[in-house]
Amino acid sequence: MLRIENLSVSYGAIQALNDVSLEVPPGRVTAVIGANGAGKSTLMRTLAGLEKPQSGQVIFNGEVISGRKPEDIVRMGIALVPEGRSTISELSVEDNLKLGGMWRSHAQRNASLTRVYSLFPILKERHHMGADTLSGGERQQLAIGRALMTGPQLLLLDEPSLGLAPLIVTQILELVALMARDSGLAVLLVEQNATVALRIARTGVVLNLGEVAGSGTSAELLASEELRHIYLGTGS
Ligand SMILES: Nc1ncnc2c1ncn2[C@@H]1O[C@H](COP(=O)(O)OP(=O)(O)OP(=O)(O)O)[C@@H](O)[C@H]1O
Ligand SMILES: [Mg+2]
Repeated sequence: MLRIENLSVSYGAIQALNDVSLEVPPGRVTAVIGANGAGKSTLMRTLAGLEKPQSGQVIFNGEVISGRKPEDIVRMGIALVPEGRSTISELSVEDNLKLGGMWRSHAQRNASLTRVYSLFPILKERHHMGADTLSGGERQQLAIGRALMTGPQLLLLDEPSLGLAPLIVTQILELVALMARDSGLAVLLVEQNATVALRIARTGVVLNLGEVAGSGTSAELLASEELRHIYLGTGS
């Protein structure tokens, strides 16, 4: 599905990612965990085409996508839910959703809308209301819903737990995991909150200062004393 090979990204003198390689399989959630500034958002933004890699490549369904434009990448089937959600508060819930996948056919968009509403019934209930009237958890569902409207094969979730109560985060992410399992969707979940991420994901990768410090099943990552220090940010 997605293969990241020796990816390096820098902002001027700051090396945000250094020689990162990982694979994201379909049908399940893969976690990327790491402390503040580890390079998690840079990885997501690079996959979505918003940052240009210095070296290395990203291969999606056998095709090199690194260096392509963000709008091409989303059409190829990769959707990013950025850090901080980014729904448009002046628009209604339904209009926010309809903004996702504008280029798709009417039929495709209607099918996706039905699917999003069945996944997140609260959005259907509130479809005519302004996005600014939603709670934080509902806005996160809207942000994920909008990404799903593009009909993705790979969903990139950047720090969805930010500012939300743990129970709500778990509910939303469990739905996402279920959807991945049932529909073959690949999900890359970035979290500073490692406990939440590893509860949902089957496997994970630990990033530290832009480099892969370790990877394995969620159980392995939880059991490793050394890796726990790194992703919990308690020193390495
Ligand atoms: N636009 C930018 N210009 C310069 N440096 C940046 C920029 N964006 C990120 N950085 C730097 O790159 C490094 C990685 O940042 P990134 O945002 O990818 O980390 P992160 O793991 O997402 O952190 P957080 O958990 O705080 O969201 C950090 O040192 C950060 O200061
Ligand atoms: Mg980040």
